[in-house]
Amino acid sequence: MSPEEEQEYKRLLPTMARNYPFLLDPFQQSSVLCMERGESLFVAAHTSAGKTVVAEYAIALCQAHKTRAVYTSPIKALSNQKFRDFKQIFGDVGLVTGDIQLHPEAACLIMTTEILRSMLYNGSEVIRDLEWVVFDEVHYINNAERGHVWEEVLIMLPAHVKIVMLSATVPNCVEFADWVGRIKNRRINVISTDRRPVPLEHFLYTGQDGKTQKDLFKIIDRNGQFILKGYNDSKDSKAKIYEKDKAGGAGAGGRGMARGGARGGGRGNGSSGGGGGKNWSGKNDKNIYLNLINYMKCSDQLPMVVFVFSRKRCDENAQMLASMNLTTEVEKQHVRTFFSQCIQRLKGSDKELPQVLTMRELCLRGFAVHHSGILPILKEVVELLFQKGYVKILFATETFAMGVNMPARCVVFDSIHKHDGTEKRLLNPGEYTQMAGRAGRRGLDSTGTVVIICKDQTIPPADVLKNLISGQALRLESKFRVTYAMILNLLRVEQLKIEDMLQRSYVESDSLRESKEKQKSLKETKKDLENAPPLDCATCSPNSQLRDYHDALFEFTRRREAIWPRLNDENVINKLLCSGRFLIVNSGIHQLQNECVILIKELNNKTLQVLVVSEDANETTQKNMTAINLCKLPKSVCCFLILEYILTHLGFSKQD
Ligand SMILES: Nc1ncnc2c1ncn2[C@@H]1O[C@H](COP(=O)(O)OP(=O)(O)OP(=O)(O)O)[C@@H](O)[C@H]1O
Ligand SMILES: [Mg+2]
Repeated sequence: MSPEEEQEYKRLLPTMARNYPFLLDPFQQSSVLCMERGESLFVAAHTSAGKTVVAEYAIALCQAHKTRAVYTSPIKALSNQKFRDFKQIFGDVGLVTGDIQLHPEAACLIMTTEILRSMLYNGSEVIRDLEWVVFDEVHYINNAERGHVWEEVLIMLPAHVKIVMLSATVPNCVEFADWVGRIKNRRINVISTDRRPVPLEHFLYTGQDGKTQKDLFKIIDRNGQFILKGYNDSKDSKAKIYEKDKAGGAGAGGRGMARGGARGGGRGNGSSGGGGGKNWSGKNDKNIYLNLINYMKCSDQLPMVVFVFSRKRCDENAQMLASMNLTTEVEKQHVRTFFSQCIQRLKGSDKELPQVLTMRELCLRGFAVHHSGILPILKEVVELLFQKGYVKILFATETFAMGVNMPARCVVFDSIHKHDGTEKRLLNPGEYTQMAGRAGRRGLDSTGTVVIICKDQTIPPADVLKNLISGQALRLESKFRVTYAMILNLLRVEQLKIEDMLQRSYVESDSLRESKEKQKSLKETKKDLENAPPLDCATCSPNSQLRDYHDALFEFTRRREAIWPRLNDENVINKLLCSGRFLIVNSGIHQLQNECVILIKELNNKTLQVLVVSEDANETTQKNMTAINLCKLPKSVCCFLILEYILTHLGFSKQD
């Protein structure tokens, strides 16, 4: 922030549209200043940096101006949470998603991006008095299935609507903002920060029994430095466990399966990554989690979110730890009462659904599960219990990582591989950062702890880990596509044609950016040409033979271009195409320019076989002919010598 901006912010402070219970960070202050000036912005900051402050300010401005604000998010869990939060702050708030409609007439509407898109297509009244639209988690534009919706909405938003885009840190935010600026014909400020208010420390966990319970190794410190000793220690720990298992040593029970697995694979390839390999077994998993949770509890690292990339395994993991209890009697009483209150909303026997009973039992012990297969009401209960601190261990899938403000002291990765619908692959740095970013509660923790469980017999290679943890997030890329729904919808929107949509899409951003420059350069070149002095040349002076020839040829080509499409359509042509006819041919690939050939026969409706007349047999071979001088040509490159005959047939006079 520049000193001028600091002064400007100080002056603004007493009259700000919204006051916050904390001092705003510089990136938040800059954002507020932009919005006060009525300028749109793209804010790129780490998870938990405090981007919601920016969204709230846009809503507060709308409240002050008696206009409407729309907040969009890609995830229902996030929309639900924001609805609860914003309702407390602003009061007049509505929620419109595919599932639910609450106060759709409110001045601040929370909705999925898909709902906003249909409002734009339908010319909804909501759009009329809309002042600000907030796109939270706008990096979702990279999502293969839904990303195109963000582009459509950005293209279609009317000119009067101001835009706030909130995103995780991405390498090409300036380029993206530039595209939005171009299609909206306005300036989009880019405000980004790399600073994490609560720095993270990353660990590898190799423990799997009482003896190795404390085998947690720090590999990246709070300053982002790689710790080689920690990495090597984790390798040694793995090697020891492996050697012991190979020798069939002590430690029966749960570890028996792990031993079998370890024997099955080879050592040292190091490419299998942290867990999820074929040697994994449920029984071993139970031991790992029992030991890890016990250790983290003793180290005061709870609450903890465990990311597991399968809904089934989320459920299984929570249930296999039935012997663990993490709540006190007082906490249990709170959970019992709260759960019962929330479940009252369900009808009759729904209150006794197996999922409800299971979740209740889990929550009472301080555990919970959060994924798309859980009933919405239960997800909400889990979110609230987690926020209140009653849920200490939450098994969640990746969707939980998207923007929901439910930070934990510690985040655990069950695996660093996931199945993305097509293949099993390593997480990319952006995905890892998004999930890891849930660790570290602002104001409560000095650092956040991130743990990767290493279940395979080898530790992932150091460079793989370094890139995963500290590598650059993926660039924002267009997933624009033309769908049938889009075409049909656009038929109803008079102002916008499908061509406009395509031209303004992010895919076309490069040509859009360059088009102005190209037009400018064309204009300048034309001007230069006009101002260029006439050439003093005897050969091409106005009355020379060469000039006459050039003009005649130019005229011939022009007329032929005008006539030829008509000739091709006429039946008369077919009648004339009898063998022995002389034709004039122009064909780049055959290197024939205004050359005379003899028609042998018509091969099909489009192709003719011709004889190329040439004095030199070698020359014809050079001209890409299949035989010495027999050649197949498309009809369209042939012109008839007997032009005059054809022209009279078509009703042209000689003057034409
Ligand atoms: N300047 C600040 N000082 C102290 N706490 C803050 C500040 N700004 C935000 N917070 C708090 O930090 C927490 C995280 O904020 P928020 O949810 O806005 O993060 P975010 O940037 O939206 O993260 P995500 O990428 O996960 O969506 C909230 O509890 C919020 O109240
Ligand atoms: Mg957020």
